[in-house]
Amino acid sequence: MTIAAKELKVEPIFLTALETKRHELGQFLTPHPIADCMASFFEARWHDMDLLDAGAGSGALSAALVTRLCVSRHKPQKISVTAYELDEVLIESLHETLRGCGQECERAGIQFSATVLNEDFIAAAVTKVRSDLFASCKPCFNAAIVNPPYRKIRSDSNARLLLRSAGIETSNLYTGFVALITKLLAERGELVAITPRSFCNGPYFKPFRTDFLETMSLRRLHVFESRSAAFSRDEVLQENIIVHAIKDSAKPEHVIISSSSGTPGSCVTEREAAYSEVVSPDDPEQFIHLTEDEVQGSARAIMSRLSASLPELGLSVSTGRVVDFRAKEFLRQHPEHDTAPLIYPCHFNCGFVHWPKEKARKPNAIVSNEHTRELLVPAGVYVLVKRFTAKEERKRLVACIYDSHQIHASLVGFENHLNYFHINGHGLTMALAKGLAAFLNSTVVDVYFRQFNGHTQVNATDLRSLNYPSKAELEKLGRRINNPGIPQAELDALVEEELF
Ligand SMILES: C[S@@+](CC[C@H](N)C(=O)[O-])C[C@H]1O[C@@H](n2cnc3c(N)ncnc32)[C@H](O)[C@@H]1O
Repeated sequence: MTIAAKELKVEPIFLTALETKRHELGQFLTPHPIADCMASFFEARWHDMDLLDAGAGSGALSAALVTRLCVSRHKPQKISVTAYELDEVLIESLHETLRGCGQECERAGIQFSATVLNEDFIAAAVTKVRSDLFASCKPCFNAAIVNPPYRKIRSDSNARLLLRSAGIETSNLYTGFVALITKLLAERGELVAITPRSFCNGPYFKPFRTDFLETMSLRRLHVFESRSAAFSRDEVLQENIIVHAIKDSAKPEHVIISSSSGTPGSCVTEREAAYSEVVSPDDPEQFIHLTEDEVQGSARAIMSRLSASLPELGLSVSTGRVVDFRAKEFLRQHPEHDTAPLIYPCHFNCGFVHWPKEKARKPNAIVSNEHTRELLVPAGVYVLVKRFTAKEERKRLVACIYDSHQIHASLVGFENHLNYFHINGHGLTMALAKGLAAFLNSTVVDVYFRQFNGHTQVNATDLRSLNYPSKAELEKLGRRINNPGIPQAELDALVEEELF
């Protein structure tokens, strides 16, 4: 074998191991402009700053903050950094960065000390938090800056059990990190964290969100408009936000909501939003709404005037029951005598489902028999909403009507990439379906929806959490609409006239 061939053989294995480690440890290092932006959010004028950097990587975040403090008008007298990093490969560069911080501080006349701990932060912090329950030793950090690792943690994993033992119930490493950090902060301690936006809504993050909002007082939320500009953490491209909060159970009157594209030097827009606009006191889910501008603020105000819930309308929303790869043997490219229509997002066409689709890459039909019966729903009029939209798509919410008057079949299968609205498993009246589809397709609802949904996925839970107009209002709107696929401006004008 030649050397070149050997090298070719070794390289992919090496890359795979690196990639696996990167994924395992959630290693997405913060680019300097973003680290600097995070550092700029700290407000307090500490005499002695005890800074926690959990999951420190090469120390980019501590370095950005120290650099800012060294040139600030209100320099601390002393900075002590405690940096936790699990990956020993990064420890040397972390030491080097912190040595550089020490030199900068010396030049600025600030005392500096650093402790690098090549340890699992979760295990170390859980021990501290638990012993604090019994001991008089109080948490010692008055500042924390963090870009925590992002990874789902299974309910039987060691990390999950450790977190549970400290009273923290959460399914992702990043919320586990932040929850522990808030426990380690002293009263009035400051936190600046860059995290995915997913904790702002959704049922999985509710225990984390409610605890966090109870303990911490939100000061600022910074949104990156482009999903990829900061960094993308997984296949479902997550939007990232920077959170600045102070450990204080009193709620602020206002929260600053700012946004930027995420590319270096891009301009930042900001507005002050009433706290109740960001987290509604009446919301049992405690969703965090990121109303970035006046348009979003007014969409939220409009939506807050609506009061009907889905159960009050007699409606339910479910996720399509046909998971195609699990039902492979029953799928057919074209309809046959023993099949029912199988509807995918590709069948959406200007407001109505057009079926079958001749040149579809997806199968058009599913065999209807005793094995598939429970995957199918009876003929009727249903409102369908795409669960996933491509990131370049203009709208997050895309609704469409399935009408069995146009598609003659006694049963139908909705594929798992769709949510469908129904009445106890049956269809809606056409007027209600048209009104509901128009409402969901309106710009106001889309703008509102994006404030609490930061990814490209539309879950049935998100649709359940929306406020809706009354049934009579939706039906009245529906009767004015011939086709829910009318141009956006026309649809928005109609929705506004009828509902808002
Ligand atoms: C998203 S990176 C951020 C790194 C660095 N703070 C930055 O902003 O560039 C998360 C870091 O946490 C480290 N990490 C992952 N799990 C950890 C754990 N359980 N304890 C300590 N560090 C951990 C990873 O190795 C990685 O360096």
